[in-house]
Amino acid sequence: LLLPQSNQPAMSSGSAPVVDAEYMEEIERARRDLRALIASKGCAPIMLRLAWHDAGTYDAKTSTGGPNGSIRFPQEHSHAANAGLKIAIDLLEPIKQKHPKITYADLYQLAGVVAVEVTGGPTVDFVPGRKDSSVCPDQGRLPDATRGASHLREVFYRMGLSDKDIVALSGGHTLGKARPDRSGFDGAWTKDPLKFDNSYFVELLKGDSEGLLKLPTDKALVEDPEFRKYVEQYAKDEEAFFRDYAESHKKLSELGFKPP
Ligand code: HEM
Repeated sequence: LLLPQSNQPAMSSGSAPVVDAEYMEEIERARRDLRALIASKGCAPIMLRLAWHDAGTYDAKTSTGGPNGSIRFPQEHSHAANAGLKIAIDLLEPIKQKHPKITYADLYQLAGVVAVEVTGGPTVDFVPGRKDSSVCPDQGRLPDATRGASHLREVFYRMGLSDKDIVALSGGHTLGKARPDRSGFDGAWTKDPLKFDNSYFVELLKGDSEGLLKLPTDKALVEDPEFRKYVEQYAKDEEAFFRDYAESHKKLSELGFKPP
């Protein structure tokens, strides 16, 4: 029975894209366009932050939020935590228009993966097939930078992630900087914010240093003994960081997603 449009339940989620050979080819073409965009605009940091903020709303208990493209809606990107991310959404729109088959959810996660790769970071395995959703989670699911270790655990455990994931993923702050007009914080975490390396952890262990930023949540990683183990390991051993980062980033990018 076909009900008139107005009687249909509100469509909440798109259907999963058909990941066939053609879709895979579009992904490879989009990957090349993303490399060019990120190189020409120097926008790797904000692309990584967009991918993380789309995914990081995931709640494992209710299977809501997650990497589903919902951050493209003003209702979500207007959240205080997402200040500035409209810039990344707008930069990606022409690539979406050029490759309309690809879901926003896949495109945003692919942008995050490419951002890490082209700045010298590890290759993060990318599996396409995410559905788009138009259901925006309420404000307050992303971590609050003014808080400490127990808050980080609350937020990342809610996503189904671990202590190791928390520390490895925090290494994403090897890229980019905070801006007073967005988060209220100011400055970069490392001396070369367009290079993906383990310098975030090296700087964390040095303590406060002239001109570099440490958020309260960054400092929590050296203060908490369980977190600190990983900080020390990653500062010493970049290979170990890259290995764990690639694994944790893949998990983040696939929260609530069952690859087809
Ligand atoms: C930037 C907080 C985790 C990647 C920022 C900013 C804050 C913040 C306050 C500055 C935003 C601005 O002023 O524009 C946090 C907190 C986290 C966290 C509290 C909890 C652990 C992560 C994770 C990633 C990430 C897991 C990626 C794996 C980035 C990047 C930037 C950034 C790349 C720089 C963006 C730019 O330069 O435009 N973060 N973050 N962050 N964050 Fe995080």
